[in-house]
Amino acid sequence: GKTLPTAITIFGAKGDLTKRKLIPALYNLYTDKHLPPVFTITCVDFLPEDEAAFKLDLLDGINTFSRNGKADEKEWEGFAKHISYLQGDFLKADTYNALKAKLDGFEKINKKNATHIFYFAVAPRFIEIIADALYKHKLCLREELDRIVVEKPFGTDLDTAKKLNRFLTKRFAEQQIYRIDHYLGKEAVQNIMAFRFANYVFEPLWNKDFVDHVQISVAEEVGVGKRGGYYDGAGALRDMVQNHLLQLLCIVAMDCPKFYKSELIRDSKTKVLKDIRPYTPAQVFKNVIRGQYTAGNVHGTPRLSYRKEEHVQPASNTETFVAARLFIDNDRWKGVPFFLRTGKSMPVQSSVIVVQFKDAPNKIFKDDITPNRLIISIQPELEISLLFESKVPGLKMKLKPVEMDFTYQESYTETIPEAYEALLLDVLDGNTTLFMRADQVEAAWKVVMPIVDAWKKYPAKQLHLYKAGTWGPSAATDILKPYAKDWFRLSARGESIK
Ligand code: BG6
Repeated sequence: GKTLPTAITIFGAKGDLTKRKLIPALYNLYTDKHLPPVFTITCVDFLPEDEAAFKLDLLDGINTFSRNGKADEKEWEGFAKHISYLQGDFLKADTYNALKAKLDGFEKINKKNATHIFYFAVAPRFIEIIADALYKHKLCLREELDRIVVEKPFGTDLDTAKKLNRFLTKRFAEQQIYRIDHYLGKEAVQNIMAFRFANYVFEPLWNKDFVDHVQISVAEEVGVGKRGGYYDGAGALRDMVQNHLLQLLCIVAMDCPKFYKSELIRDSKTKVLKDIRPYTPAQVFKNVIRGQYTAGNVHGTPRLSYRKEEHVQPASNTETFVAARLFIDNDRWKGVPFFLRTGKSMPVQSSVIVVQFKDAPNKIFKDDITPNRLIISIQPELEISLLFESKVPGLKMKLKPVEMDFTYQESYTETIPEAYEALLLDVLDGNTTLFMRADQVEAAWKVVMPIVDAWKKYPAKQLHLYKAGTWGPSAATDILKPYAKDWFRLSARGESIK
């Protein structure tokens, strides 16, 4: 539980994730009084580090990346007291002996009643090493109280994901394993279930009889940046589609679980993945478009071509853009295309889900009718709006689409927590709802494997180039036909939905 004394250990203390996301999230939870009264954060990494300097770097991370901006001096002082740095090689027993001594001390003070969380903010090659060491040093044995948190990428394909699952579940119970997909922690993503299942207006229409198609777009302004070393071996399909986009699709397409219970929700989502139609290699090239950015301009700033980015192979065929048409072959969705799209170096950062309903059956008006469209905007704006036709005031019966709009800004005064705050608190609480279960991860890999395999077999076939700062290759628009002329764009305020 939340109020139990808690010892958090972060492996990969010197990494980007710790500085940008984990510590700022923990700090915000601390200042908002969500952390238990007794807690300790042990940061483990390889490099020797002066503890004071290390903490200053963490403070810099909060000041730079926290949603609240600069840290409060007093609060930071209070928070920083709970943090310590443990220098250690993940490969060496000494590291875990030292950690154990420290955690045993914490246990003793707290009468063996503490929650232990081990966060793997490390490169994938360390996951099994650390997991095994935790197991051998008996650091993570109690099913109810000891937990590990594993970041993506979870495997690089179905086989490696299965292998990793087997490795972990031999050492820990499934309920101790928190596989993170941070999109599930986003406020607007969590709201989709509330929107769908606590309202009865849309759910009866949420199927093949009324829905024409669905578009899920996650556009990013950023390029590959300094992550070329990882990204060039992964690509957008593994980096974004296998996890974040498929999870969004699951939430949109899932059946209502019988209760709001972790396992039932995860069952319902997994079923969606299992119902997705697998593609033959020929179908892959017809239904899935890959792109890679070339030199261009993003918001007036020049961007190198992907192949010239740091740590990227000069002749790389890695995709920085994916657009896919998927079908879910079940009673609810048979024949309804789900279009997924994600890319880097796009004109704006914007994640949007659009559910397009079918045309009104009776064509009694002269004007072209725009079908109803439900737009769920996840970021940067948090918004749900419904597009519908309306009569333009005047003496003629002239129609024009208008929008009914719900924005968080207008409806709520509450602050919007970061995804990592929500997810870390769930780990503290022992709530697995928003985390990926073993079978879920594997089912998601099964969906993308035909694409991975086809692209591996034909590495350069139909790799479409697009200029940085554009919406991706035109082939991505072709797969929409005949359902839509173009992808819907709900971008930074001002640019409206087309
Ligand atoms: C990560 C990917 O999982 O998600 C990154 O590895 C991507 O490549 C990021 O930029 C996007 O997350 P967000 O929360 O910024 O939309």
